[in-house]
Amino acid sequence: MGKLATLSGVEIERVAFGTEQLGGYDWGAIDLEAIELAVDFAVNNGCFLFDTADCYGKGESEKRLGKALCNSRSNAFIATKFGVRFDEHGSVFYDNSPDYCERALDSSLERLNTDYIDLYLVHWPDRKTPLHRLFEKLESCREDGRIRCYGVSNFSLDKIDNLAGYWPGFKFFSMGFNLLNCNEKLRINDICLNKGLIFLAYGVLAQGLLSGKYSEKSTFDTCDRRSRGTSENFKGEKYLENLKLVYKLRHLAQKHPPWSVAQLAIKFVLEELPHSCSVVGVKGRQQFTENIEPSTCPIGSDLLEQVRCISQLTQVATV
Ligand SMILES: NC(=O)c1ccc[n+]([C@@H]2O[C@H](COP(=O)([O-])OP(=O)(O)OC[C@H]3O[C@@H](n4cnc5c(N)ncnc54)[C@H](OP(=O)(O)O)[C@@H]3O)[C@@H](O)[C@H]2O)c1
Repeated sequence: MGKLATLSGVEIERVAFGTEQLGGYDWGAIDLEAIELAVDFAVNNGCFLFDTADCYGKGESEKRLGKALCNSRSNAFIATKFGVRFDEHGSVFYDNSPDYCERALDSSLERLNTDYIDLYLVHWPDRKTPLHRLFEKLESCREDGRIRCYGVSNFSLDKIDNLAGYWPGFKFFSMGFNLLNCNEKLRINDICLNKGLIFLAYGVLAQGLLSGKYSEKSTFDTCDRRSRGTSENFKGEKYLENLKLVYKLRHLAQKHPPWSVAQLAIKFVLEELPHSCSVVGVKGRQQFTENIEPSTCPIGSDLLEQVRCISQLTQVATV
């Protein structure tokens, strides 16, 4: 189960490298050099999908990733996103217009220091651009070679189901999925199987909560999104409820070495969604090596069933 064939013929590993943290922003203490070393380790140990976006660190994630990959571009599958913009006050707005797509793509290519992007994702729906106009634009970018394929992120599954099958370059869809939030499993698997798309799960560790290292006593820096109301899973009562589940997972991991809490959480997603790739955010090589282990390490059916039971105890959570 270690690899996934993409439709452009490249085989990628099933655990992907999330690089929002490489943007250096909003994730608490970040050692950029440690992440860059992890990128270096990754390219020497497989063909990994690197997930970035033009808005991560306002372009810094793409720039740093491009620099870190400069000698190993052909051994990396780069996924970047467009459509999240900032106005003059720094407020976010969404823009999926074909004109903006054209400009955003060239800027991403420049920052990433490459002449093609393996996967170009529409980051969020803007609820105004007609999707056929956007997809025509993406098809033309594919035909001129700047992108190899494209997809959508955070779109409704109904929309994705309707769009899939008509557009030759439309190959991926992405949204949050983890053992706190897995209600859409059947629908996602159905789209993958019947429409031939690959699913990119993000939030697989629920922003680190499912690594098992946080407790009631944990505090987060003000420069860390987990200190604010924007991270639902880390807020008030919900956080305490989530921790109860994390402690059950920790107990399970302790009884089944060498599994760690993070590895059980990642394995759960890989098993529940066989046509998916799990994007896990990385702060250094140690986290990365721990996170990729589940893609090759088999899990016993009893242990998997126990993880599923823990997941079923949860209410719907947001990532
Ligand atoms: N398409 C979209 O709209 C979208 C949205 C969000 C994210 N993403 C992508 O998904 C990636 C993942 O981000 P996420 O928000 O989804 O978070 P996540 O992967 O659930 O959690 C990532 C965080 O967990 C901690 N962590 C990772 N591995 C660990 C390990 N082995 N042991 C202990 N802690 C570990 C790290 O933070 P600490 O060490 O600080 O705890 C890391 O920053 C992002 O980098 C981005 O590329 C995409």
